[in-house]
Amino acid sequence: GGDGRLVIVSNRVALPDEHGSLPPGGMAIALNAALQQRGGLWMGWSGKVKTEKNQVSPTMQEANGITYALADLSQKDLDEYYYGFANRVLWPVFHCRVDLAEYNDARKSGYYRVNRLFAESLMPLHREDDVIWVQDYHLIPLGKELRERGCRNRIGFFLHIPWPPADILATVPLCEELLEAVSFYDLVGFQTDDDLDNFAECLRRRNLGRLMKDRSCLVKGREFRCGVFPIGIDTAKFESLAELATRDGDLQEVYKRTAGCDVAIGVDRLDYSKGIDQRIVAFRHFLDRNSHRVRKTLLLQITPKSRGEIPAYLALQKHIAELVGSVNGELGTIDWVPVHYTNRSHGPLQLAGLYRLARVGLVTPLRDGMNLVAKEYVAAQDPSNPGVLVLSQFAGAAGELEGAVLVNPYDPEAVAASTEQAFRMSPDERKDRWKAMKHSLIGHDVYRWCDGFIAKLEAADSPARG
Ligand code: UDP
Ligand code: G6P
Repeated sequence: GGDGRLVIVSNRVALPDEHGSLPPGGMAIALNAALQQRGGLWMGWSGKVKTEKNQVSPTMQEANGITYALADLSQKDLDEYYYGFANRVLWPVFHCRVDLAEYNDARKSGYYRVNRLFAESLMPLHREDDVIWVQDYHLIPLGKELRERGCRNRIGFFLHIPWPPADILATVPLCEELLEAVSFYDLVGFQTDDDLDNFAECLRRRNLGRLMKDRSCLVKGREFRCGVFPIGIDTAKFESLAELATRDGDLQEVYKRTAGCDVAIGVDRLDYSKGIDQRIVAFRHFLDRNSHRVRKTLLLQITPKSRGEIPAYLALQKHIAELVGSVNGELGTIDWVPVHYTNRSHGPLQLAGLYRLARVGLVTPLRDGMNLVAKEYVAAQDPSNPGVLVLSQFAGAAGELEGAVLVNPYDPEAVAASTEQAFRMSPDERKDRWKAMKHSLIGHDVYRWCDGFIAKLEAADSPARG
């Protein structure tokens, strides 16, 4: 690799809070680990609303050996860009929820406006030999905006969420612009082969370009590279956290209180892509079909609120709370609550301990770029007595975690049956399945993801750089 710094640009910057813990979100947690290892600059939204009209340049801050450049955004920018085009158009459409997309032109222009603002802020901050790595769907046009301002650095882009099939993407007005914007990067990374295939098919159908066998791509005379880089976790760290957690006082208390009950765990941001409500319905089926499980099993569902200003998220929040209430009301007894549901966010130590306590990990998204919770659950298991991962076939992680019990999250009876299969599984089968998954998580951790992407980016020789 080169000597230049690593410059990460993403909407959400994972600044550690006063307790040193990071906000939820797979990308945030992965990148913090990566930057800490290499050192560099991380630019993004400060998480704050801009109050002064003419305040332009981002606030600089140092922490954990990382320089942060944090830009405040005006309420209008946030509404149109973050709560608007990014999370009311791109997020639902890229997760194949066309029904939830709420496009309008103001949102689209807000999206471009903030991407220009980010480009302008970054121009004076980066150095000639830095490698710039742009993250996720919030910032697809950033590479183009940087190039137009004369930036000749290597610039990479990684999409953490799925790339949708061509006819789904076609529902986004002016999606051709988005496809073209991608071609201004030197390297474009996806989570899975399916995502790259979908992307290539989008280009092909619109006659914009073609993906070659060597994964280079030509769009309107611009050549760039594509690749598949499934994101990982800090496997070793999660393993040791889980060890540590068994000696943690708070967790020992939880262990005591759940003694006599088999625990299944779900950990998800409150998001319609995660299949949380379908999972609770499936868990109810599971209890209905397996009367011996009643009062002997519980689902621990940890669900921090997310993007709460968006109506679809508010509606889901209400829906899940009602569903949990009705299951607990109908099936629960004075000494047994079937679904333990919380909107509180938990730190990695607590999560690791809870993953290890749970005999079954229920990870059943309807669609997910990767899903790090699936990987964390596996990493946290006790090698001598591992739990079983029940995993949606529609999570990117399904391509790697072959030892999981794969399920179709749209089929509640099948999820219920797989949950029972997981609870019943023999220790030998559990160990065999777990070993295979753990092995792949050690070989493909987040450091390898990061190094792998950067090495490819540094090797990419694109004419865009002149
Ligand atoms: N997470 C957390 N605290 C919580 C819930 C989740 O730190 O209370 C973390 C979790 O450990 C994982 C990430 O949030 O690292 C979620 O990543 P994932 O890829 O599963 O889903 P995303 O939220 O990025 O869609
Ligand atoms: C997903 C996205 C990330 C995002 C995270 C949390 O992992 O891929 O880009 O940061 O969810 O969502 P939020 O809207 O809170 O940043």
